[in-house]
Amino acid sequence: MTATLSLAGQVALVTGAGSGIGQSIATHLAGAGARVAVTDVDLTAAESVATSLPDARAYRLDVTSADQAAAVAAAVESDMGPIDVLVNNAGVSTMNHVWALTEKEWDFNFNVNAKGVFLVTRAVIPAMMERKRGVIVNTASMAGKTGPGLLAHYAASKWACIGFTKCCAFELGPYNIRVNCVCPGFVATKMQREEIEWESELRGLSGEQIFDEYVKQTPLGRIETPDDVARVVLYLASPASEFLTGADIDITGGAHLP
Ligand SMILES: NC(=O)c1ccc[n+]([C@@H]2O[C@H](COP(=O)([O-])OP(=O)(O)OC[C@H]3O[C@@H](n4cnc5c(N)ncnc54)[C@H](O)[C@@H]3O)[C@@H](O)[C@H]2O)c1
Repeated sequence: MTATLSLAGQVALVTGAGSGIGQSIATHLAGAGARVAVTDVDLTAAESVATSLPDARAYRLDVTSADQAAAVAAAVESDMGPIDVLVNNAGVSTMNHVWALTEKEWDFNFNVNAKGVFLVTRAVIPAMMERKRGVIVNTASMAGKTGPGLLAHYAASKWACIGFTKCCAFELGPYNIRVNCVCPGFVATKMQREEIEWESELRGLSGEQIFDEYVKQTPLGRIETPDDVARVVLYLASPASEFLTGADIDITGGAHLP
C-alpha cells in the first residue's frame, strides 16, 4: 500500500502555533485531517488560529514551564485523545555581537529553543512509548548548522535542538517513535521582521539592504514562506516518511550552501 500524507483521525500538538511557521504547520496538519491542539504562550493568538481550523482547540503553553507542559499534555489527551504528533516549534531570537552577549539573552534563547523542546517532549513521550506510536518534529534552524554573525546564542540553542533530536530518535526508535527536525532559512515572519531591525542597527545598514542580502544568499532567489516549512513538517509527520528518523532537513532554498 502506498503511504500517504493523511493524518485522518490523529491528534497533533503544535507549540508556538499562534503565529508564523507554527500557524502554518497547524493549518497544514489540520488540512491533512489531524485534530490540532494549537498551543502558544500567547493564548489569544492560539485561540484565533484554533477557531480558523476544524476540530482544533487552543491551549496556553509556555514551553519553558515543566508544570505547564505536563498539564497541557494531560489536558490534550483527555480533551482530544492520545497525542500522535508533537511539533516543537516555539522559538525566540535576539541578536548581538558575541562580545556583547548577556547571560539574559543566552538564557532566554536556550530556555525556549533548547530546554522548551526537552520539557514538552518529556511530557508527551511516556504515553507515546506506552502506545508504541508517535512522531515528533522539532523546528531547529539553518543557524543550527552554520555559524552566522550576531546569533551565537541562538545558533548554539538550535545546535542543541538538533543534537537532542538525534538522541531522541536513537532512544525512541525501538518504541516506534520517529523524531526529526527541520532547519529553515530566512522565513518571512514576525521573528524575521525583528531580526532585520536589530541587524540593521548592529551593522549600520538599511532594512532593505539586509533583506536583499537574505535573498541574494538564497539560490532559489526568494524569501522563504512559513508554508515552505509546513509542507515538509507535514511530510515528516505523515506515514509518507515512515522510515525516516534522526534527520535534520534543510529547508532554505539553498541558503545554507555557501
Ligand atoms: N523566521 C525565521 O527566519 C526562522 C528561521 C529558522 C528557524 N525559525 C524557527 O521557527 C520557529 C517559529 O518561528 P517564527 O519565525 O514563526 O517566529 P514567530 O515569532 O512568528 O512565532 C513564534 C511563536 O512562538 C511563540 N512563543 C514564543 N515564546 C514561547 C514560549 N516560551 N512558549 C510557547 N510559545 C512561545 C510566540 O508567541 C509565537 O507565536 C522558531 O523555533 C524559530 O526559531 C525561524
